[in-house]
Amino acid sequence: MAETGKRATARAHSNIAFVKYWGNRDRRLRLPANSSISMNLSSLHTTTTVEWRDQFTQDNLTINGSAAAEGARRRVQNHLDALRARFEIDAFARVDSQNNFPMGTGIASSASAFAALTLAAVSALGVQIPEHEMSRLARLGSGSAARSIPAGFVEWHAGDSHEASFAESFAAARHWDLVDVIAIVSREHKRVGSSAGHETAASSIFQSARTATAPERIRSAKSAILRRDFERFASVVEQDSNLMHAVMMTSAPPLFYWAPLSLRIMQAVRRWRQEEGLEVCYTLDAGPNVHCICRAGAADAVANRLRGLSQGLAIASSPVGPGAYILPAV
Ligand code: PMV
Repeated sequence: MAETGKRATARAHSNIAFVKYWGNRDRRLRLPANSSISMNLSSLHTTTTVEWRDQFTQDNLTINGSAAAEGARRRVQNHLDALRARFEIDAFARVDSQNNFPMGTGIASSASAFAALTLAAVSALGVQIPEHEMSRLARLGSGSAARSIPAGFVEWHAGDSHEASFAESFAAARHWDLVDVIAIVSREHKRVGSSAGHETAASSIFQSARTATAPERIRSAKSAILRRDFERFASVVEQDSNLMHAVMMTSAPPLFYWAPLSLRIMQAVRRWRQEEGLEVCYTLDAGPNVHCICRAGAADAVANRLRGLSQGLAIASSPVGPGAYILPAV
């Protein structure tokens, strides 16, 4: 039995996938249709405090200082239910979560949010579990959160059971000086979020081809990262993003996440790399923002060129980040 009546604060970083996760083979357990790889983003993080108390009569959630909306509250409550079942407790929790990046920038927060929530909730119970287990538990809240537990460059093994589906680091953050320069094309909240999107993935005739070929892209992207071979890395990352968006666009109903400016940026990024030798490539998640992955030395040039494409374009930028960790009590 775990103890209650304690609190803990954890921080987890957002991550950007190079070989993407899209579609679940098991919706409840969030077992993904394919394995994926990513890097953590050191500049974008969520800090969450969890306090369990037998005296609380319900779970309570604040995000950035305000009471959370109903949808977010229900999702966090479901995740706390999974943790209550796992650790055999029935106490409720008070959860306070802060993102250091403004909500509504279109930068996904579910990965960092559920990784920080899981680590804080488990630590507040005073139990110690291995990193693989923490990653499995984070996965239950949001698939990509599994990848925000380990440090640096991370692979999430799809697995075909709860036990087999977890993420682990395959290279430290310092291994390669990549930077994610994010072009904030739209600040609008996405109309169809990734949880709903995963549900429709199998309706595209391209999904089976995408998942069947994912292991080859994982091998290729991992080997490019381990050898620091940017040219090879860029071609796999862009192809994988295009494949995922081809599935999205051909699902029923179709999901069109690209905006006209997203496409202009993608074309420009390829031109900058192929014609001018700038080490940069693009990848897009379930939204129009373009993640321009580049070497640290090219980050300022990439940001300036992006501003040149669209005046006033907001940009966020982040090097490779650490795994989730506990912050000292204040
Ligand atoms: O963890 P979710 O349900 O938010 O899904 C993430 C899906 C993508 O961001 C589009 C791809 C990925 O692998 O991160």
